[in-house]
Amino acid sequence: MCGIVGYIGNKKATSLLLDGLKKLEYRGYDSAGFCVLDDNQFCLIKKKGKVSELEAQTQKISIGGSIGIAHTRWATHGAPNEINAHPHLDCTGNIAIVHNGIIENYQALKTALKKEGHKIISQTDSEIIAHLVEKFYQNGNLENAVASTIKCLEGTFGLLVLDKNQAKIVAVKKGSPLLLGIGKKQMFIASDASAVISQTKKIVYLDDNEIVSVTYDGYTIKNLQGQLVDKKIVQLKFTIDQIEKRGFKHFMQKEIFWQPQAIENTLRGRISKNRVKLSLKLNPKEINRIIITACGTSWHSALIGKYLIEKLTGIPTEVDYASEFRYRDPIIKKNDLVIVISQSGETADTLSALKEAKQKGAKTLGIINVVGSTIAREVDSGIYLYAGPEIGVASTKAFTCQVTALILLANYLKSGDKEILAELVKIPQKVSLALKLSGKIRHIAEKFKESKNFLYLGRNVNFPVALEGALKLKEISYIHAEGYPAAEMKHGPIALVDENMPVVFIAPKDNTYLKIISNMEEIKARGGKIIAIVNSTDSKIKNLADYIIKVPKTLDILSPIINVIPLQLLAYHIADLKNLNVDKPRNLAKSVTVE
Ligand code: G6P
Repeated sequence: MCGIVGYIGNKKATSLLLDGLKKLEYRGYDSAGFCVLDDNQFCLIKKKGKVSELEAQTQKISIGGSIGIAHTRWATHGAPNEINAHPHLDCTGNIAIVHNGIIENYQALKTALKKEGHKIISQTDSEIIAHLVEKFYQNGNLENAVASTIKCLEGTFGLLVLDKNQAKIVAVKKGSPLLLGIGKKQMFIASDASAVISQTKKIVYLDDNEIVSVTYDGYTIKNLQGQLVDKKIVQLKFTIDQIEKRGFKHFMQKEIFWQPQAIENTLRGRISKNRVKLSLKLNPKEINRIIITACGTSWHSALIGKYLIEKLTGIPTEVDYASEFRYRDPIIKKNDLVIVISQSGETADTLSALKEAKQKGAKTLGIINVVGSTIAREVDSGIYLYAGPEIGVASTKAFTCQVTALILLANYLKSGDKEILAELVKIPQKVSLALKLSGKIRHIAEKFKESKNFLYLGRNVNFPVALEGALKLKEISYIHAEGYPAAEMKHGPIALVDENMPVVFIAPKDNTYLKIISNMEEIKARGGKIIAIVNSTDSKIKNLADYIIKVPKTLDILSPIINVIPLQLLAYHIADLKNLNVDKPRNLAKSVTVE
């Protein structure tokens, strides 16, 4: 993971680099650093901890210079400390690098470089890159040195190299995202657009093995053979407002409360006269089987997708963790469609799974939020969520928009279901009503914030919602939580139930309602505390549950979008009441770009 940003222009580099790092901090936040070329000297500052700590350190000194590179880290190799923080230097101190990704063969390269006399001081896989550039640097040709360096590297990288002697940044990527931002008399190279959007909306998305060279005079992009590559400049559509908190205490809170607008954006222009309009390169009649693959919260959407697609289209649908799919030599047949779901469009395992599927001849379709992301560019066709940037590490609005997109897709594959589509357009309004429960849920959160364990139970299409509720709680409150199909509870988790165990039931009035009531009785008999998410018309469960949360009724198939809202709020309020870092929970990163 990690976030990288480089700057060259007519302003002070430090403040723009720090600003960029703050926007990228969701990618990693255990240490940060920058290297600025000030008066022909490198000014290198690194700090353990968050970007704010690096910023505080820099306020004590005056730094000039209008070219530099910066990094926010999520440790993979070597503890989070100042030595392992980026940028890293070569032995001469003339080359500085920042790296996002993992160099898989770094041990062998490190041993060889040490034999050649290089002094390697960190435990990272990244530092060897600076020494390789030093080794291959000849006649001031930094581009050639970088090209030779990457030929030695196995793994993934987004890489920025700063040369003290020529005020130049050379950048290259393989498997990790990187883009060039072109402003007025200034240029940026960054892991993603959030780092540059306050300065420019003109973006060039870089492809693997393209060598970008940026100086005060402009930029060139060449392939590994040294030929110039003509790249399209793309105009970004999202605004700076969309990535600021706008009065909310946390990004996660803002993202939870903006779900009605986000879902409207996913739906906009896609339903007309009981039909779903999507421009997809596939013929629904030719699909024999669907495989959906994803990670984390997106994998939970995928599970809901299986229920939806099988029910609405009759097409057999399987779901796989992207990391498992990739390595188990999956069987792909001629008319298989592989759907990848990813908020960021950059998750390394999902990207690898997609490549595996393509290589085996599958048709591919992406459900992606970040426009122009690597996965979005690799799939045959796709559905963008248009949910706006999601900054909180724990995914919320992307989840509800992914489920919305899957419902659209299911209705596209089969001729649209009039009743479902009519109800789908009312969903944003119903989500707004569910959000009004926030105060009540905070009160429940007060009661349970010290709990050590939670159980989340649901059935059918709401079983993945139970998984998602448990994941949200684990991610941001550090309380152990498990999601289970309610009936399976008897085969293990019930052994854990006592008066200290809160059990969250998702209990809409569907065809499993009476069974869920029996499961509640079983929990109650063992002293467990029941929090029940029920429909607004429910009257039965109040005698069984300790806390009742009534959400608007909708069609069974659409109910995950409504039922997940109180679960997101419960996790959010518990974490906030515990004064935890809601947006940047420990050890997690928003975009997992390592396998
Ligand atoms: C990380 C994030 C999760 C996200 C998962 C998959 O674990 O913290 O919120 O669900 O990656 O990310 P993607 O961008 O592929 O949906």
